[in-house]
Formats: sequence, C-alpha cells, structure tokens
Amino acid sequence: MIKIAPSILSADYANLQRDVELVEKGGADLLHIDVMDGHFVPNLSFGPGVVSALRPITKLPLECHLMIDAPEQYIKAFAQAGADRILVHVESTPHIYRALQMIKDAGLEAGVVINPGTPLELITNVLPIVDQVLVMTVNPGFGGQVFLKGMLKKVSRLDQLRQTNYNQDFKIEVDGGINDQTIAACAKAGADVFVAGSYVYDSDNPVARMNHLRDLAAD
Ligand code: DX5
Ligand code: ZN
Repeated sequence: MIKIAPSILSADYANLQRDVELVEKGGADLLHIDVMDGHFVPNLSFGPGVVSALRPITKLPLECHLMIDAPEQYIKAFAQAGADRILVHVESTPHIYRALQMIKDAGLEAGVVINPGTPLELITNVLPIVDQVLVMTVNPGFGGQVFLKGMLKKVSRLDQLRQTNYNQDFKIEVDGGINDQTIAACAKAGADVFVAGSYVYDSDNPVARMNHLRDLAAD
C-alpha cells in the first residue's frame, strides 16, 4: 500500500491550518513534520508546540522527523504533543537502539532515518525493532533539493533485506526530491511511503500533485 506524506516544511506557515486541511481533504495518508535544531542540520524549523497545535485540527497521523542532536531528550515532549510516529537519525545519537525503544515505550511507532552518506550496515541491528526506515534521498536540512539517484540502490538493498528476513516487517520511506520525475523509480526500488514537500505545496493545486504522485508510484 502506497502512502503519500506531504511535508509541511514547504507549507505556508501563516496558513498552516488551511494547508493541512487541504491535503487531508485531498487524500494525504499522513503528515510529515520536519524538526530541525540548527545543530544536527544547518536549519531551524518546528518544535513540539507546532505538533500540539496541529493535533486537534487533523485526524491524519503525525510523523515527526527529528533532525536534532540528543533526540532522546525530546521524545517525551513529541509524544505528549500528539505525535503518532517518531523518526530518529542513526547519526544523531550513539544509542539509536535506546532511542527507538523509548519511542516504542511511549506507545508510538518508531522509525530510523539514514543519511545519504551513511552505509546501510549501521542500521541492520535495529531493523527487527523498527516500524519504518526512512532513507534520505537528499542531505537533510532543506526542502527543494535535487534527488540523489544513488540512493535507489540503498532502497532496493533494504527491500531485499526485508524480504529475506522473516522478523523484519518495516515500511520503507523516502524523503527529499520526490516529484513526478523520481517517485516511480523509488516505488520500483521498494519504497512504500513517499514524503513530498515542495512538489506538493509549491503548486496552485497541491491535491492534483498528490494524486499524480500516487498514480506514478502505483504504476
Ligand atoms: C529535508 C526534509 C524533507 C523536506 C523534503 O531535510 O527532511 O522532509 O521537506 O522537501 P522536498 O520534498 O521539497 O525535497
Ligand atoms: Zn523530512
């Protein structure tokens, strides 16, 4: 089952409620919320306050992509704010297993994220405990960057691992540069969940863009 996850990083912050309702009515499967601390990535974005403000205005699952140092310190705050799933970068903590366990213990779905420059081997030990793996297809920090084609191989190797190990039942997500030119190749490589920021929101018709992406991924 293909899932389309609009990233509100590219939404109109002065009209966030409008932009969330628009994609919810238009059939988005979940909402992707990019959390940046200015240390782990060279940009600043949203904190738990934005998540708790969105929680009462949408029924969409809220997925928080933590691009922050010491993510363990903020898991509780995002859980209390109403996150449904928390994604933590393997590069952001020496204790990725613990961070993922903390997310599960809070009753949420847990995902591990892997940067373009990080080899897959660094996450193989946590695959049995995650609900999702996010393969970054750009270097994290900004919307609107160019898709890194080399990441397709990482996605298909991950898909192979998933198929050959009975205890590994995670979803594969891609994030960065997903658009009408790149989504089909990602789907073919084995991705199930597709984050799209600028392609959806930098448009006069975000709903048409989401529908188009879904069609291309399903082909
Ligand atoms: C980048 C973020 C992405 C971003 C994607 O660091 O993790 O979620 O919103 O933006 P696009 O789809 O414009 O590449
Ligand atoms: Zn993201």
